[in-house]
Amino acid sequence: MKEVVISGSGLWKPEFTITNEELVSSYNAWAETHNAENAAAIESGAITAKPFSSAEFVEKASGIKSRYAYRKEGILDISRMRPKIDRRSDDEISHQGEMALNAAKIAIEAAGKTAADIDLVIVSWAYTERAYPAIAIEVQGALGIKGTGFDMLVACSAATFALQRAYDAIAAGSAKAVLVINPELTSPQINYKDRDSHFIFGDVSTAMVLESADTATSSQQFQIVGTKSQTVFSNNIRSNFGYVSHAEDVDPFMAENLFHQNGRSVFKEVCPMAAEHLSEQIQQVGLEVGDIRRWWLHQANLNMNQLITRRLLGKDTTQDEAPTVLDTFANTASAGSIIAFCQHHKDLKKGDLGVICSFGAGYSIGSLVLKKVS
Ligand SMILES: CC(C)(COP(=O)(O)OP(=O)(O)OC[C@H]1O[C@@H](n2cnc3c(N)ncnc32)[C@H](O)[C@@H]1OP(=O)(O)O)[C@@H](O)C(=O)NCCC(=O)NCCS
Repeated sequence: MKEVVISGSGLWKPEFTITNEELVSSYNAWAETHNAENAAAIESGAITAKPFSSAEFVEKASGIKSRYAYRKEGILDISRMRPKIDRRSDDEISHQGEMALNAAKIAIEAAGKTAADIDLVIVSWAYTERAYPAIAIEVQGALGIKGTGFDMLVACSAATFALQRAYDAIAAGSAKAVLVINPELTSPQINYKDRDSHFIFGDVSTAMVLESADTATSSQQFQIVGTKSQTVFSNNIRSNFGYVSHAEDVDPFMAENLFHQNGRSVFKEVCPMAAEHLSEQIQQVGLEVGDIRRWWLHQANLNMNQLITRRLLGKDTTQDEAPTVLDTFANTASAGSIIAFCQHHKDLKKGDLGVICSFGAGYSIGSLVLKKVS
């Protein structure tokens, strides 16, 4: 088995941001209009009034202050309540293809590689803008990479699961170097008319280059010491949009086809699962939780991360030990733990250990134990 390292990482952020205050003020204006227009039905009890959102609640319940948006136009417009994204022709690069390329170029440069060095491209995410051709193959073509590309959908664990597939391929000798990209365009799947979830997500794109330790030359290399993945079926986080809606005689964009969750249950069920998963994973590679210098955790909710690390370590963690990026990025589906890695790895010393861990819909949990080797 070959030793495998992460030799480069890349983070691309869209140019637009939306603060909690902007989002809440637009939602509240929409709710007020909706309630006024439906006053009689609300009065008769036929429908319930839309409740108001609050920026203070959002920050306290989630740790989120702001988020990036691929396109801001349309999101805050109460007559639209969704982003306005231009339709591209078959001859143009797709939106997620463009986001993927932006992050991929940064990661390839950080790894000191060229397209000729890479022979597998995996694009993984919570949402894909089309079924085929694979965005990974589009990106492979745009970068001039020879070999194979495929897409993977594993909701919030898409990035860690793809990194594990990359690790397996290199360790087994079926790939030399793998580009894993997570162009998380979450905003079109958000129900901006739902108070409980309108604030949760943001758009971003991340990428990593993995290769055999024999070929790696970059200044920042992290050996993959171990990987672990786990799935348990749950209906508590769902996004039902899909091609079958075309045949179901329903509105394909109705609320139940957009993101929705039973947030309290997710919180209660996923936190202990993630803590147990991490504890087992660390033991399996012959380490103890106290050996871990940095926790690059999934970024869904600050309180969730604090609960998980408290269960694991028996104490509260600092920003240095378990960095959070939720305040500026919000929940970026599978990219969250990779953003945390991208922004917080250069200060680690040779020999330091860290864990990347994601958890989310499915349920799915994925983790990688890393050791800084240069
Ligand atoms: C979604 C989440 C942030 C909500 O936090 P919470 O503390 O569980 O909040 P609840 O949904 O129980 O709501 C608490 C109260 O605030 C209210 N509330 C909910 N959203 C609100 C908003 N935007 N503004 C103001 N109040 C709000 C609720 O109605 C509820 O009121 P009640 O006590 O009178 O019933 C939290 O459950 C969570 O993070 N869950 C899972 C993690 C996640 O986001 N996963 C995404 C996929 S990985």
